[in-house]
Amino acid sequence: MMPFRRSLLATCAVSALAATTSVAFAQQAREVKVGYALAVNSHYGAGAQAWADHVEKATGNAFKFKQFPSSALGGERELIEGLQLGTVEAILVSTGALSNFVPEIGVVDIPFLFRDTAHARKVLDGDFGQDLLTKFKKRGLIALAWGEQGFRHLSNNKHPVNKPEDLKGLKIRTMENPVHILAFRTMGASPTPMAWPEVIGALQQGTIDGQENPLSVFVSAKLWQVQKNLTLTGHVYAPIALVVSPAFFGSLTDAQKTAFIEGAKIGAQASRKFVDDVEKKGVDEIKSHGVNVVTQVNNAPFQAALTPAYKQYAAKYGQKTLDQIAAVK
Ligand code: PAF
Repeated sequence: MMPFRRSLLATCAVSALAATTSVAFAQQAREVKVGYALAVNSHYGAGAQAWADHVEKATGNAFKFKQFPSSALGGERELIEGLQLGTVEAILVSTGALSNFVPEIGVVDIPFLFRDTAHARKVLDGDFGQDLLTKFKKRGLIALAWGEQGFRHLSNNKHPVNKPEDLKGLKIRTMENPVHILAFRTMGASPTPMAWPEVIGALQQGTIDGQENPLSVFVSAKLWQVQKNLTLTGHVYAPIALVVSPAFFGSLTDAQKTAFIEGAKIGAQASRKFVDDVEKKGVDEIKSHGVNVVTQVNNAPFQAALTPAYKQYAAKYGQKTLDQIAAVK
């Protein structure tokens, strides 16, 4: 054979081997579909990426996360159902739709339950929050850690809100969450529960006047494009749960399970760090887009207006539980 042809054949053989090897590597990595509601450049994206990085590294690339941001797999309800059906492996979700699946976690959605971020993190990382994570199991879900969105604030297109009376008649989109719906109804607003993927369109069309979400969501979803007024009510703390499908989790070795659990904790911390950064810069950024931001608001009248709702929360979740949370210092 001519030397040139021999070297050409050798080159082809090496390339074929490399291609086969990389296919083999690619086949070895199990795909983990991870879904969430917001963009990659958000506290959700930060959490998902840190979770992926840890699992991929700790397992020697036995897994490859594929991200589905911006509700690409549906709203949060569909994501949770996807885990139960085993069509999605991992999600990061708010407590909005979750409390319809795991009613016990509705307790964290009670307005003004947490004094501040440090209090919320301490409760969720402590015995109470870790015990709540175990409640997911009997609902066909495995929750691994609590991440964060921040405290929710109220925005609308009608007028600045300074006191509960200003809420009267405002059509406020809430999450599909019974605790939030009761709170807004009790404070005099007209709560309109709606899945997140419909919210921006509804604000554009004026079928709702406002919505409520933390600064992290306001900034990442560029809500200044559809909202004129924002009041820093901080009326309720919003955690994120990092959850996996039981079918998927059950198929893992113990070491792989540990990698997913540790990765979820790292992802949760990454979401909190992202929120800490947005909390520092978010208001200025939102103002720079022309939104009228009420930064000083007296919470006491809002809490007073909620008195009838607190009676119902205490009846549902137990006054002892609420006192136990308040006692965490
Ligand atoms: O308002 C909501 O539905 C949630 O806070 C969001 C934006 C989907 C993030 O989980």
